[in-house]
Amino acid sequence: HQTPVITIDGPTASGKGTVAALVAARLGFHLLDSGALYRLAALASLRYDVAPDAADALVALVDDLHITFREGLAQLDGVDVSDDIRAEAIGNRASAIAVHQPVRAALVARQRAFRKQPGLVADGRDMGTVIFPDAALKVFLTASVEARAERRYKQLIQKGFSANMDDLLRDLRERDARDTNRAAAPLKPAADAKLLDTSALSIDEAVDQVVQWYGAQ
Ligand code: C5P
Repeated sequence: HQTPVITIDGPTASGKGTVAALVAARLGFHLLDSGALYRLAALASLRYDVAPDAADALVALVDDLHITFREGLAQLDGVDVSDDIRAEAIGNRASAIAVHQPVRAALVARQRAFRKQPGLVADGRDMGTVIFPDAALKVFLTASVEARAERRYKQLIQKGFSANMDDLLRDLRERDARDTNRAAAPLKPAADAKLLDTSALSIDEAVDQVVQWYGAQ
């Protein structure tokens, strides 16, 4: 493939979304926030009353999803839902529907369509392992669960949601376990991924490292 991809995978609130957006801006690349796609599907399932365990109905829903989804903006049925999809309840529901292999398969083409010149930065759980196995650079971002809960807390408060540290820690652990232990595209570093622990790194330091790795190839 001619168009380079940088994949940034990792657990919830590891900072991958922020780092991916900044790396994309720095290189002038497109951005795919694949978690937002799962969150849009989760929001749609709530609106259209499709249960998170009804895999077949979810596939039909996903195939018919009317979304516009571009760098930081997400629309469902023509209405901006960029903030709605950030709620913790939607993240948890996204994680519940993401366990179904047919649902994941139904989202593959939409994700690959983001690969356009001059390049793409894609963040998620399986960008390096499943969606873009031929990526030029694969990064796996980690951070301690405490560091991630703190970041998520600040993020939620900033967006005007209420948040509680104990609930966040419990939610993160549950979501980690579900994303890591599921049979379909479990969260794990690709064999050729570079590991980056951001617990003690600033955002700028993490971005610098990724750009440096990309440039050094
Ligand atoms: O990254 P974010 O928290 O927005 O993702 C929400 C949920 O969507 C994750 O917990 C995960 O279960 C699912 N997801 C996934 N594969 C991706 C991106 C997100 O399964 N590539």
